[in-house]
Amino acid sequence: LAAAGGPLARSRFAPVPPNRRDAVVLPDGFDHHVIIRWGDPVVAGAAAFTPYDLTVDVVKKTFGYNNDYVGVVPLGRDTALMTVNHEYDDQTLMYPAGRYTEEEMAWFGIYSHGLSVVTIKRGAVPGSWYREKNLRKAGHNRRINADTTFVMTGPAAGHELLRTSADSSGRRVKGTLNNCAGGTTPWGTVLSGEENFNQYFNTEGTVPGGVTLASGATLADAYTRYGIAKAAGDPRKWHKYDPRFDLEAEPNEVHRFGWVVEVDPMNPTEAPRKHSMLGRFKHEGASVTIAKNGRAVAYLGDDERGDYLYKFVSAEKYDARRTKAARRHNKTLLSKGTLYVAKLTGNDAGAPEAPYDGTGEWIRLCTDTQSFVDGMTVAEVLVFTRQAADLVSPTRMDRPEDVEVNPVNKRVYAALTNNSNRGSSYPADEANPVTTSGTRTSPGAPLVNQSGNRNGYVLEITPDKGDHAARTFSWDLLLVCGDPESPETYFAGFDKSQVSRISCPDNVTFDSAGNLWISTDGAPTPMGQNDGLFRVPVAGPERGHVEAFLSVPKGAECCGPLVYDGDRSLFFAPQHPGEIGGSTFDAPASTWPHTDDFPRPSVCVAYRQR
Ligand code: FEO
Ligand code: CA
Ligand code: CA
Ligand code: CA
Repeated sequence: LAAAGGPLARSRFAPVPPNRRDAVVLPDGFDHHVIIRWGDPVVAGAAAFTPYDLTVDVVKKTFGYNNDYVGVVPLGRDTALMTVNHEYDDQTLMYPAGRYTEEEMAWFGIYSHGLSVVTIKRGAVPGSWYREKNLRKAGHNRRINADTTFVMTGPAAGHELLRTSADSSGRRVKGTLNNCAGGTTPWGTVLSGEENFNQYFNTEGTVPGGVTLASGATLADAYTRYGIAKAAGDPRKWHKYDPRFDLEAEPNEVHRFGWVVEVDPMNPTEAPRKHSMLGRFKHEGASVTIAKNGRAVAYLGDDERGDYLYKFVSAEKYDARRTKAARRHNKTLLSKGTLYVAKLTGNDAGAPEAPYDGTGEWIRLCTDTQSFVDGMTVAEVLVFTRQAADLVSPTRMDRPEDVEVNPVNKRVYAALTNNSNRGSSYPADEANPVTTSGTRTSPGAPLVNQSGNRNGYVLEITPDKGDHAARTFSWDLLLVCGDPESPETYFAGFDKSQVSRISCPDNVTFDSAGNLWISTDGAPTPMGQNDGLFRVPVAGPERGHVEAFLSVPKGAECCGPLVYDGDRSLFFAPQHPGEIGGSTFDAPASTWPHTDDFPRPSVCVAYRQR
């Protein structure tokens, strides 16, 4: 372990064993508490929340459902602003059976999405933080929801593909949907990825046909490539109650989702923005670093089986001065630049071996003024980024999730969560080598082989000459996840008898010593164990030594995570507790955090006991 860094970077702990408990389980010596739960008041005037007697007004003013990304920026010496995504609603777990009509649940659902900005303050124990409950002292608090206007930026803003009957400008969008991971920028704003936005759109009528591009070519499968279709199994049916979700009535509304959004928590009245320059796909998140030449670089994942990794490099340079003018300038950086997609090449032609490694190239798709994709304009590349990328043959990856830059070694770490179709729909390659995975049905059940990549990877990218603006890089798989007893797994060469089982990496972050922290989503399926959060050094003799730091309650994925405040605070966000087949509000598989007889997604902080 690195000698540098605060308590969470340096502490030795006994790894948490795989389990199925309905609890947050931490190593001895650490405590945690809940900061805010689904339904807690965010802005003044929120009436008391109860899922037995909900109103739209309460939903609009209280903490939304399924907290995902957690970004914290300092406010005062002992206060900070915590920005949290609300990814999706789940009618089965949110409401008593038969209590509400389809229309009531549609409107509750629409307003349960978005983001919350919450003022937090230090507690007495170092590393602990609490919500400011006196909302008169929380003037920055904000509940961004479907009433909030987002301003489109970049080359596609105003394009006819973004115009609707409610917005002939194609520049002003109500709300944000399915916000998954994100990033906090060097200039103190929060980015958030609109991920599985396709699921909210449907029609009782006819799904429109192809889009004709400026070149005259027809993009007949523009909806199909994004999974937008008439869906019989749609549980929400929003299109029946708000026509903008009706594909036949408003065929362009769906083009206004699938972007990276930027929120400035310091400016509670400022319209958040959707950045067209970062492309449109199922954005997991976005994390920004500053390249040696001063450009802002954002790494981006498109979370779909067989989809791609992307990178954006700004046209203008970051201004590091702590002035209002510098901040205003930095907030324009994501609207002009170059968008790239990744191609990874293995350096061993034969059978995959460990270590898996090779070289890579960032292929240009467009700048704000020039398209590099034949037959597509800049705006078309940005609205139909997946199809533009298809035309330049990037590497089909195993569901790229969070991608972040290590502040110490400046390498890029990407979670490739899993791909059950690897080896069938997609051939293996050196960057996506696993086609058979060891799995199990409970923590103690025997290992069984299943086809595909079930447990995921962590990919490590080293930009050539350490330059994040460079077009070339080298790469290796830091981890081939799974049970260390299963032969396909790899832990950067570390002794496999010493590591924790890890499956389905999703979110990544770092402590100040550069240790990687990985949270997981999906481990119950291939590993029979609750999801959790893992620490792994990426340098020195302990590189690859994966240790489970915590596990989250039954049915939950572990979101966040964020190591903050000199490695004293660990923010983490158990999302969808109780989300297990057959589990309902009335008979839930989890009642975490055990304040009620139903589950509540909540954001927590963990810290060393005093
Ligand atoms: Fe919402 Fe890709 O996880
Ligand atoms: Ca190799
Ligand atoms: Ca995620
Ligand atoms: Ca996920």
